[in-house]
Formats: sequence, structure tokens, C-alpha cells
Amino acid sequence: MPASGSAKGAAMVTAVAYRLADQTRQIAQTLAEFRLSKAQLLEVKKRMRTEIENGLGKNTHDSATVKMLPTYVRSTPDGTENGDFLALDLGGTNFRVLLVKIRSGKRRTVEMHNKIYAIPIEVMQGTGEELFDHIVHCISDFLDYMGMKSARLPLGFTFSFPCHQKSLDAGILVNWTKGFKCTDCEGEDVVELLREGIKRKEEFDLDVVAVVNDTVGTMMTCAYEEPTCEVGLIAGTGSNACYMEEMRNIETVEGNEGRMCVNMEWGAFGDNGCLDDIRTQYDRAVDENSLNEGKQRYEKMCSGMYLGEIVRNILIDLTKRGFLFRGKISETLKTRGIFETKFLSQIESDRLALLQVRAILQQLGLDSTCDDSIIVKEVCSTVSRRAAQICGAGMAGVVDKIRENRGLDHLDVTVGVDGTLYKLHPHFSRIFHQTVKELAPKCNVNFLLSEDGSGKGAALITAVGCRQRAQEAQQAAQQA
Ligand code: GLC
Repeated sequence: MPASGSAKGAAMVTAVAYRLADQTRQIAQTLAEFRLSKAQLLEVKKRMRTEIENGLGKNTHDSATVKMLPTYVRSTPDGTENGDFLALDLGGTNFRVLLVKIRSGKRRTVEMHNKIYAIPIEVMQGTGEELFDHIVHCISDFLDYMGMKSARLPLGFTFSFPCHQKSLDAGILVNWTKGFKCTDCEGEDVVELLREGIKRKEEFDLDVVAVVNDTVGTMMTCAYEEPTCEVGLIAGTGSNACYMEEMRNIETVEGNEGRMCVNMEWGAFGDNGCLDDIRTQYDRAVDENSLNEGKQRYEKMCSGMYLGEIVRNILIDLTKRGFLFRGKISETLKTRGIFETKFLSQIESDRLALLQVRAILQQLGLDSTCDDSIIVKEVCSTVSRRAAQICGAGMAGVVDKIRENRGLDHLDVTVGVDGTLYKLHPHFSRIFHQTVKELAPKCNVNFLLSEDGSGKGAALITAVGCRQRAQEAQQAAQQA
């Protein structure tokens, strides 16, 4: 007997409802892998702590993944810094040249002038000589612009990559990270490469005093305003932290007195496989498609350069499974790097109606239905929540280490922070703060946003470097 119209209709509705329910369940299952429990986050904190010890230890340092690089910055600023300095900032979203005028005394002031320059992708991935020629060309343009070509200014070079330092003014590049991959630089002193570039140009002279990681610049900038700042964090294109460690614990540097700032290079956390149990197939796909496969695994789970890529890989998979974009993988979705931090931030903004989310996706060339936009938003927020949480777990490990170093039951400390993800994303900072609080309950952590951190910090470190140099020269003269 043929089914009546209404029975057939009911069967179809039921079938569709089942399919939708099944689809929702499958999407939820996919995203569940990104939801970490408190126990898992505590485990991340604990593992970070183990890697910190490995990086600091004499016998374990060479094979350690979290390198804990000494910076030769032995104190935070004391307010007596003074003078005019040039600063370079390479390795974040932009390349900048800055003139920083620091005035000490009763009314301390810092005045800054800067210009932003693009670094074309061919230069980021060309030869080292091309990169440094380009940098010197930009400095030359800036000095012309400021009318300062003849002054031999002291310069601080914020170079936001892992460097082995034996002094404040020398840094051997361990390896490139983020989007850079220039030939003939790894294993070389980047300060020498800069000096050679300046010589080749034969137009001006500079006195390179310090090479500085952006985390250290950020910490110093915040410490200038707030002396309890002893930690620096970057949550931007890349992810990394630094803090003041006891000299007695830094077994790779002679001496036991006082403290030194250590550039953790925590982005490499997990490169020995210790985070594999929480990495998903999408994290592995992002890694495989990157310029540095197998490297910077933690950074690839929690920094701006890669979050969009994780999202894109999930969306591709959901589309292939027929849950999104009517099952069609567009050219846009195949394009690496389309979801920049700024787009994720917009998509996740609570003030946006779904229609606006669709408009953003449209701008990117993704034709979405209303249901699609709900799923995309959910994917973005799941990925960025995990990022903020694991970043918080790492930070909880750091502040607890500082507390234990000082034998305290309770520590008050300030973390200076910079980076586009932290500044632009509507939820990252809140979830990150919450996580640190939950995972390090014995620490009262205050977060200070650093305005223009890396440039100003490089100038402050250069000022301290110049002062140290003058003192050493004076001592030498007295002995002679
Ligand atoms: C990458 C670099 C590191 C830098 C961080 C943030 O992790 O290796 O040196 O501090 O990005 O820019």
C-alpha cells in the first residue's frame, strides 16, 4: 500500500532531524578534542616546569627543547636611564625603526618617533644579505626622515627569534621561527650581520649596544613603570615568555649572585613529543604545512600566526564530511593564512550579529549559510579558548617557579604583556587570566599591557648597556 502523503512527509522530517542531530553530534565530537579539563591543564603546567628545569641545567641544556636562553639583562630599569637611542624591531607583525628619547630625573619622560616598514615575503625567505641590506635601507630612510644621518647613535636591536647570547651585544641565531627563513643566518651573530650591512651601505655609522628579545623588551618597558614586573609575555604572531631567574639556577652562565632575565623560547615546548597526547590531527596538519615542521609545537597551538590555520584545517575537514559550505571546498579555503588574528577576533566578537559574521566570511570569499556561520564561530572560539588556556597553563608554571625560587607561600608579581592576539582578540586575555588564576592559586598575578613594548624596551636596555660600559671604562682607567 502506498504511504500517504503525510506519513511520507513525517518520515522525511524525521530523517532530516536525525541527520542534523547526527551532524551536530559529529561536529561536537570533533571539537571535544580541543576542550581540555583542569587535570589536563595542570599536566601542561607540570610538563612546562620539567622543561624549564631541563633548559636551565648544565647537563640537560643541550638537548632541552625549552632553551631558557640567558639574556645578560641583570636588572630592570631604575629610572636613571637617559639619552637618545635608536631601536629596531624585527620579528613581530611589522618591522619598525624608532628613535627613543629617554629623560631621567624628577619628570621622567620617554618620547618616541617611529616608522613602520614592510618586509616582503621574498625578503623574509631570501638570503641573509638581502634581509640585512633591506633593514639597513630602512634605517637609512628613517635617519633621512629624522634628519639624523650624521649622529652615531647607540642602537638596541629587538630581534624576536631564539639567540644564544654570550653578552648583551652578541646573539647567535639558533633557528628562524614564525614566517622567516633566510639563508646564511642560523649559527651567525645577528649583530655582526647588521654591522656588516651598515658597512656595505657606507652611509652612516651606528653603535650596536644590545640585541634584545621582544619578551625582554616588553618586561623592561613595563618594569620602568611598575617595578614588580619581572615577567614578559608575547601572545602575538608568535608566543614566548621571559622572567627574572636566580643566577644560581642558570647553570649555563658563570656566577651565582643576583638574577638574570631568561628568554624561555617556550614556543618550542612539546618539540620532544611531550604534548602529543593533547595535539589533534589538525595541529599535526598545521605543523606539516609549516616552514619548520616538528618545531615550535606549543607556539603552533597558541599563537596568532597559527590559530587561523588550525581553524582552516578544521573547516576543510568539516566541509569534506559534508557539514559545511554545502560540501564544497572553495579556493579561499585552500589558501594558507587567510584567517589572520584580526579576522578571528572579528568573528568571535560578541557584538557581531550572525549576519555580520556571514559578511566577514563573504569578504574572505566564503559563501556561507546562517548555519555555516554558527559552526564557523564555534570552531574559532574552541580553538582560541584552548590557546588561551594552554598559554595560561605555561604562565602558571612560570609564576609558581618564581614563587618557589623565593621560598614564598604567596607571590605578588606583574607580567608585562604585548602581542596582537592578546590585544585584539575579544576573549583571549580574559580566559588566559582566568586560567593562570586557577592553576597558580598561590600567586597573585597582575597583568600590565605594554604600550609599544619592544622598541621602548630595547632603548631602555641599550641605556643600561651604555651605563655599564661607561662604568667598566672608568674602572679600567682607575686601575691603569
Ligand atoms: C617566536 C620567537 C621568539 C619570540 C616570539 C614572539 O616564538 O622564537 O623569540 O619572542 O616568537 O614574538
